[in-house]
Amino acid sequence: MVYSPVVKAFGGVERIDVIYYNLMYKSLIKPILFLFSPDTVHNLIVNLGKIAQSTGFSRWLLRKMWRRDRVILEQQVNGMSLKNPIGLSAGFDKNIELTPLMQSVGFGFATGGSITLAPRKGNPRPWFYRLPKTESLVVHAGLANKGLVTIKDGIRRNQKRAKTMPLFISVAVVAKNANETNQDAIIDAKNTTLYILQRSLANAIEINISCPNAGDDQPFTQPQLLDELLGELDKIDRGVPFFVKMPNLLQLKHFDDLLKVISRHNIQGVTIANLVKNRESVKLQDELPEDVKGGLSGSPTRARSTALIRYAYKKYGGKLTIIGVGGVFTADHAYEKIRAGASLVGMITGMIFNGPGVVGQINKELAQLLERDGFKNITEAVGADHKI
Ligand SMILES: Cc1cc2nc3c(=O)[nH]c(=O)nc-3n(C[C@H](O)[C@H](O)[C@H](O)COP(=O)(O)O)c2cc1C
Repeated sequence: MVYSPVVKAFGGVERIDVIYYNLMYKSLIKPILFLFSPDTVHNLIVNLGKIAQSTGFSRWLLRKMWRRDRVILEQQVNGMSLKNPIGLSAGFDKNIELTPLMQSVGFGFATGGSITLAPRKGNPRPWFYRLPKTESLVVHAGLANKGLVTIKDGIRRNQKRAKTMPLFISVAVVAKNANETNQDAIIDAKNTTLYILQRSLANAIEINISCPNAGDDQPFTQPQLLDELLGELDKIDRGVPFFVKMPNLLQLKHFDDLLKVISRHNIQGVTIANLVKNRESVKLQDELPEDVKGGLSGSPTRARSTALIRYAYKKYGGKLTIIGVGGVFTADHAYEKIRAGASLVGMITGMIFNGPGVVGQINKELAQLLERDGFKNITEAVGADHKI
């Protein structure tokens, strides 16, 4: 191989523990990145990420640095083979450009989007606001993306480079403009989904009904409209599993009404949950000016999302696979969601605050937690709290 001497020189990289990279991120890189606005940093990371993933050698090197797969973490979920349960949640890789990088970082799956078929400008900048002490981001992007028609070739090009890591595509269910009705949004989401399936662009589809930032209401979190949406999607001939991204709801009755509807349709799982919309429910440790709009991610989402996962598993665990998302920064957080009923775990904010090395660290420590508690594999631990 052309670069074999270089490979040899870096052969020891795997032996340097992933914690070392985390410390380097926290003490060196993060203080510099956090001097700039989160919007600037996000753009920078996307552009640097595209360069970093562009050669076989750089992807190999990053994999050696960051990926920490363990046999105990492997599982089959709805027909997909996953090397580990930790995935990138929707919203970081909005235009699905970084799938190979996410594989190198160590994720077991990655969710791209949320996307629409046509380009969507989203809300005026800034889209993000940082709450460092609260360990949270305020997100107000409004489902901005370049449009699936524009980005499809890039997705296909990256498919091989991402190796066997499953790609989920998050489809936004949203009206294109104020003149459009909810029926138009349903047809648009259906066409977007068809477009993905006809070109085999994804291993799974996530239907995002819960963006808190695209207009004031979330119409498809009304059970009747959700029923209409899923009824229309049921008509699609599909070879991949479908998930619904749930809102981070305070009312259990409302949450249950949505799960009841979902369980009647051809949907294989739910992603629990999206950003926190209601700020009154959050104990903030930073100043948050009134004029900063958007939903909150990170630590403020953690407890509620785990409670919702626990509830969903108890009532619908036999029918729906659960992806647990919200405030995962450590292996303990991920393990808590798995024991509550999540088969897979998604994250964004934990990676932004603790660096990309945290993904491998979570996997490594998660394997240790499973072994400590006597599980033979990750599947045995899913919903373990309910079996005590
Ligand atoms: C920067 C950012 C952008 C997001 N954009 C989306 C999105 O487009 N679609 C979506 O379903 N969720 C979106 N989310 C929500 C996340 O997928 C996730 O549900 C939430 O942030 C909780 O996970 P975390 O605490 O690990 O960030 C976004 C979150 C962040 C932080």
